[in-house]
Amino acid sequence: MRMLNGKKIVLGITGSIAAYKAAVLVRLLVKEGAEVKVIMTDAAKQFITPLTMATLSKNPVLVEFFNPENGDWNSHVKLGLWADLFLVAPASANTIGKMACGIADNLLLTTYLSAKCPVALAPAMDLDMYAHAAHQQNLEALRTRNVLIIEPASGELASGLQGKGRMEEPEKIVEQLRAFFEKKQQLSGKHFLVTAGPTYESIDAVRFIGNYSSGKMGYAIAEELAQRGAQVTLVSGPVSVCAKHQNIKVEKVSSAEEMYNAAVRAFEAADGAVMAAAVADFTPEEKQAGKLKRKNSALTLKLAATKDIAAALGKVKRANQVLVGFALEAANEQANAEKKLREKNLDFIVLNSMNDAGAGFNVDTNKICITDKSGTKTAYDLKPKAAVAADIVDKIIAVSRKEIKG
Ligand code: CTP
Repeated sequence: MRMLNGKKIVLGITGSIAAYKAAVLVRLLVKEGAEVKVIMTDAAKQFITPLTMATLSKNPVLVEFFNPENGDWNSHVKLGLWADLFLVAPASANTIGKMACGIADNLLLTTYLSAKCPVALAPAMDLDMYAHAAHQQNLEALRTRNVLIIEPASGELASGLQGKGRMEEPEKIVEQLRAFFEKKQQLSGKHFLVTAGPTYESIDAVRFIGNYSSGKMGYAIAEELAQRGAQVTLVSGPVSVCAKHQNIKVEKVSSAEEMYNAAVRAFEAADGAVMAAAVADFTPEEKQAGKLKRKNSALTLKLAATKDIAAALGKVKRANQVLVGFALEAANEQANAEKKLREKNLDFIVLNSMNDAGAGFNVDTNKICITDKSGTKTAYDLKPKAAVAADIVDKIIAVSRKEIKG
């Protein structure tokens, strides 16, 4: 399959000696059937001419916010909406730094900030610049925002030094883009339910029992599923994170009971569900109307058990549906996780240990261990939650394939 056929690609070129390779890159993209529009920074024009790029891309090259000849506005918003991919190659350390910080002082950067499509970049710079902590932090910031970083190769650099920093070869960039678009289709036509965030159990009109879940892990999973082409119903407790992808439909709920109802409803038509919410296990038996007045004596709340959403879905799960649960454990981690896997009839369980630094609630990273129902156990390193979400979705795809074959 020609993965790039018909794809609309905005190629941003920045000031780097590797800009000459952008000519080959455009030729290859056009040969693959992609439509390419080129934006160049002023510095890029010192390395390769707009005429060369316009000829190869068969489209006018954009540099300024306004066409100096007739004053027409080059709409960065429209370009960002038009594209299926915004690729910056070569991406200089300067442009990467500006992208990471949201600086918008040229057309390439305003296009980046208004792009709704996926973004990829191929860094090109000297080895020391590439290795510098400031640059590495910028790359990490972009990675956590789901920018695909096409790692530079090692070899001879323009400075004469040897090391990592050479822009990846155009053929290899095209290969990575093909794989990227292929991944985007992996779950097309599929529908997933994801639960995320905490639940709030009302005590009275102003007080509730809640927990510290930020919803970040569940939202990252919804985002990853959507990026692979799935439609996602995200049943979310009260959180401050937002869903970005257009394939995600968010259903906001507050209590465990509301989450249960929304999840059961959505699961019926879903191909799978990921239960990432930290659902309250208990809820006040009586919700007081108005605000409880303070007394000088102790207050006893009677709590009732909430319904276990994952277990309820496990009971009605069809053979072709995948059900994934989480276990946040403080002790006897693996044994407890395996018990939940069995009791809730899950296909696999994602274990977070409260004893691992950087894992769990309210952080941007996570360290997980996945155990599936056949007993296979895989431990992963500490990673940003977006990367953890990718590992979980890879496992969902592997498990679904097995179900279909088996
Ligand atoms: N879960 C759920 N509904 C509940 C409680 C938990 O759907 N009422 C789901 C969670 O979303 C998670 C899995 O069940 O995917 C395990 O949740 P966890 O809180 O670790 O375990 P519990 O079953 O609540 O048991 P315990 O709190 O005793 O560890």
